[in-house]
Amino acid sequence: MIILGLESSCDETGVAIYDTSKGLLSDLLHSQIKMHQEYGGVVPELASRDHIRRLVPLIRQCLEQADCTLSDLDLIAYTQGPGLGGALLTASSLASGLAFALNKPLCPIHHLEGHLLSPMLGGEQPAFPYVALLVSGGHTQILKAEGVGRYELLGETVDDAAGEAFDKTASLLGLAYPGGPALAELAKLGNPQAFAFPRPMIRSEDLNMSFSGLKTAVALQCQKLGANGSGLTAKARADLAASFQAAVVEVLTSKSLQAMKRAHCSTLIVAGGVGANTLLRESLEKGVSTVNGRVLFPPLKLCTDNGAMIAFAAAQKIQSAGATLHSSADGFSIRPRWPLSQL
Ligand code: KG4
Ligand code: ZN
Repeated sequence: MIILGLESSCDETGVAIYDTSKGLLSDLLHSQIKMHQEYGGVVPELASRDHIRRLVPLIRQCLEQADCTLSDLDLIAYTQGPGLGGALLTASSLASGLAFALNKPLCPIHHLEGHLLSPMLGGEQPAFPYVALLVSGGHTQILKAEGVGRYELLGETVDDAAGEAFDKTASLLGLAYPGGPALAELAKLGNPQAFAFPRPMIRSEDLNMSFSGLKTAVALQCQKLGANGSGLTAKARADLAASFQAAVVEVLTSKSLQAMKRAHCSTLIVAGGVGANTLLRESLEKGVSTVNGRVLFPPLKLCTDNGAMIAFAAAQKIQSAGATLHSSADGFSIRPRWPLSQL
C-alpha cells in the first residue's frame, strides 16, 4: 500500500510517501522558520498562506522522487489536529480534494500520534508497552503506549512546553526564534553549574512538570547580572544557556525514569523537536542504562514536524486495524484542540 502523508499543523509543510512493503520512498519538508523569525514566533495567517503555496509543488516533487504517479497512491493521510486551525485546513482540504479526484480513502492522523510512532521509522520496532516522552514546542507529555492508538497520559507540563521554555529563554539571551537549537549550541560553551536554577516539580508525587518558572529564573538572573540578554558577556550567556538546559534535562530525565518504573516498562521512546537535544539524549541514555532499560530516538531528521510520521502513523494504524478511513464524500474536519486521550 502506498500512502501519501501531509503535515501542515504549524510552521512546517511536510509531504512524504510511505510504502508499507518498501518503507519511506520520499520525504520533503519546507520550514517556514525564516518567514516567522522577524516576528519572534509563528504568525498563523502567514503560516496558512505559505502552506497553500508549498503543498502542491512538494507533492509533485515527492511523487517524482518516489517514482510514483498520483494514481499509484492507495491512501491519503493528513494531520487532522491538534494545531493552528487555518494551517490544518490547508493540508486537510487538499487531502480531501485529492481523495475525491482519485477516488481513494482518507486517513486523518493525530499529530502527536505521528510523533509518538516516529521512532519506529528508524528501523527498530519496539514492542508495546513502552513509555513515550513527547517533547515539542507545543507539548510536553509522558505517556504509556499500550498499542497503536492506545495511549495513557501519565504526566504533562502544567504550563509551558519544554520547547517553548527553550525558545523563550533563547529569546532572553538574544537568540533568534526558534531558539532551542541555538541555545543548545551556546550551552556547549558554558558551565552547567554556573547558576543553580530550580528543578521545578522534580520532587512532586506525580509525573507532571513545570517550565515557565525556569524561564523567569533566567530572566531574574539576567537582571542581577545587570543587563538584558544581548548586553551580557559571552561567558555569562553561555553559562546561563548551559545552566538552563541542565535544569530542563534533569527534570525530563527524572520524570521519564519515574514513569518507566510506575508503568513497568523498560523501553522509553522520545519524540518531538526537543528530542533532537544532544544533552537530553545523553542524559536519558545514561539514566535508562541504570535501570537496565533502553531508549529509542527518531532519526534527527524526523524529530521535528514532518510528513513521514503522518504517512507512517496511517500505515501502523491500518496494519493494527485501528485506522478510521473516510471517503471524501464524508467531507473533512479539523481538530485544532484534540487531546490524545480522545483518540
Ligand atoms: O516537534 P516540533 O518540530 O514542533 C512542534 O510540534 O512544536 O518541535 C519544535 C521545538 C521548538 O521549540 C524548538 O526550539 C525545539 O523543538 N528544538 C530544540 C532542539 N531542536 C528543536 N530544543 C532544544 N534543543 C534542540 N536541539
Ligand atoms: Zn510536532
